[in-house]
Amino acid sequence: MKQEWPQRPVRVERRPVDEAESRRANGPDWDRYADEYQATHGEFLGDIGFVWGPEGFAEEEAGVLGPVDGKDVLEVGSGAGQCSRWVRARGGRAIGLDLSWRQLQHSRRLDEATGLVVPSVLGTATALPFADATFDVVFSSFGALQFVADLDTCIAENARVLRPGGRLAFSITHPTRWSFPDDPEEPGLTATQSYWDRTPYVEVDDETGVVTYVEHHRTLSDWVAVLAANGFALTHLLEPEWPEDHDRVWGGWSRTRGLLTPGTAIFGAERR
Ligand SMILES: C[S@@+](CC[C@H](N)C(=O)[O-])C[C@H]1O[C@@H](n2cnc3c(N)ncnc32)[C@H](O)[C@@H]1O
Repeated sequence: MKQEWPQRPVRVERRPVDEAESRRANGPDWDRYADEYQATHGEFLGDIGFVWGPEGFAEEEAGVLGPVDGKDVLEVGSGAGQCSRWVRARGGRAIGLDLSWRQLQHSRRLDEATGLVVPSVLGTATALPFADATFDVVFSSFGALQFVADLDTCIAENARVLRPGGRLAFSITHPTRWSFPDDPEEPGLTATQSYWDRTPYVEVDDETGVVTYVEHHRTLSDWVAVLAANGFALTHLLEPEWPEDHDRVWGGWSRTRGLLTPGTAIFGAERR
């Protein structure tokens, strides 16, 4: 539910999209958007900073990852690697993975600017290029999970690369947001769509008919079910409140909506 940076005329649809088409759309979309994304949100994220979403709720406070010192950590959908850099600053061996080469170039830029290097790899969340049981922690802050069609494979991949007892942590658009128009102002407060309609949100290039951006919706019970099916025990489900004095608009997230409805869900789970 983007509608923040349409660079060419797009039409918005709800229709089924498979994994290959989701990836073909979202990689180039993030390449096109990366410069503007980092220019707009980089300061809020912090070069060495870990927030879970537009509310500014920090991992320092949330503690979903647990202690990271000395741990092998993978960030999926790492973007410019701000979160991984925060982990590295606390002694974790964090590495990043992202679908967008341009986002990873921004990660290189921050490596140089901060002196904290996050080794990173271009790849997709549904085919992680790592051996089994490589990591103690896998996390994603608004990274890949809502962009993949094949969520079961994605969560299975997370389980595969985690060691037994390892942590999975991720944030997503709060599933209830899918009932509302993606508008930060008053129109975004009236439910217009079924919460149970899992049909993906799709932007289509008006001229070429090519799908240019995709997001996938799952209900809260879908998330719990896919974690359980892949051997995870849920440890956290956090719904950060919008801080009273926080007046930043990020896409459909704003104070107007944030004071009334949850915008972000954060899950933590342990691999059995
Ligand atoms: C909203 S950004 C979040 C990045 C970073 N966590 C942050 O807070 O800035 C989403 C990121 O997920 C990446 N992404 C989207 N689909 C992906 C996929 N299938 N596999 C890996 N990364 C993906 C995008 O390229 C983008 O960098």
